Amino acid sequence: MLKKQIKVVITDCDHPSIEIERKILSEINAEVILLNSNKKEDIIKITKDADGIINQRVPITRGIIKSLNRCIVIARYGVGVDNIDVKAATKYGIIVANVPDYCVDEVSSHALGLILGCARGIVLFNSKVKEKRWGFSLAKPLFRTQGKTLGIFGLGRIGSAVAKKSIWFGLKIIACDPYVSKINTKIKMVDFPQLLSESDFISINASLTDETWHSFGEDELRAMKKSAYLINTARGAIVDEKILYNALRERWIAGAGLDVLEKEPPDWDNPLLKLDNVIFTPHSAFYSEESYIELKTRTAKAVLSVLNGKLPETIINPQVLNRKK
Ligand SMILES: NC(=O)c1ccc[n+]([C@@H]2O[C@H](COP(=O)([O-])OP(=O)(O)OC[C@H]3O[C@@H](n4cnc5c(N)ncnc54)[C@H](O)[C@@H]3O)[C@@H](O)[C@H]2O)c1
Repeated sequence: MLKKQIKVVITDCDHPSIEIERKILSEINAEVILLNSNKKEDIIKITKDADGIINQRVPITRGIIKSLNRCIVIARYGVGVDNIDVKAATKYGIIVANVPDYCVDEVSSHALGLILGCARGIVLFNSKVKEKRWGFSLAKPLFRTQGKTLGIFGLGRIGSAVAKKSIWFGLKIIACDPYVSKINTKIKMVDFPQLLSESDFISINASLTDETWHSFGEDELRAMKKSAYLINTARGAIVDEKILYNALRERWIAGAGLDVLEKEPPDWDNPLLKLDNVIFTPHSAFYSEESYIELKTRTAKAVLSVLNGKLPETIINPQVLNRKK
């Protein structure tokens, strides 16, 4: 009997081409199909006989997973796998893989860019110059960064890289992460109240969990220095955005640099967007041409590994190995 050709379905991706994935999976002569639909019926129809799935944003629900007859791996382009029902995948013997560290350099540099952008009034000056206004006092008062304290909320891969890079700017680093003990003589581990009260800049780099959801609410924002800036390149919902709006408008804190919002894209009448003491970027911290290529390559390689009978670089549900199909 002829062996059936291996089929890999990319449920969705906003990349201009899937040539990288096709090239990598050509090693096993796989047919790679890009669906680009978020309709459950379409996904079920095309994935039911797929051997592997690559996914970006569309939810891979229990219902979809249950309908998969051959699939042994679902790999997500990116870090978070909250759009995949990992429990169901485990139950049905499907490995879930991700690429957790493809953009550590980009996001940490982006956080630093927002810190320095706030500290040096860069965005405000830029808009003033474009309004034909010229003068350093337009962004007064600005303060020296050297010797100031940067508080890192979440000292994982990205938080640690932010710390490492910030030391070059003469910032003192404190960090709060209940799951990390002292790891570096240049970083002082503190509790959350101390992080809030001592920091001149807070960089949020924690993962979004039930525990970190709305960690920055009224009490926390009021506990920060009035001169402090809040930088968020992690996930919008770690901050209570409505309270943040009040904090920025009423100047409980000096400003913010936000790459992530609770709702993305935002409602364009969200009043937060009108404040001039906030710098926004459109959840772009992860992006560079290099990180993009790395992400696509490593996602496809994760699928290739599993279809070749090997383990992927990172496996979200190692328990599945005891019950693999
Ligand atoms: N803006 C972007 O484009 C972009 C890109 C990649 C990642 N991210 C986000 O950046 C964040 C960090 O990513 P990472 O790869 O460094 O993740 P990571 O898992 O390496 O680090 C997250 C850290 O958060 C810590 N943490 C968990 N609960 C905490 C709590 N209650 N208080 C303080 N710390 C807590 C964990 O212990 C861990 O050290 C994540 O939220 C991720 O989703 C954003």
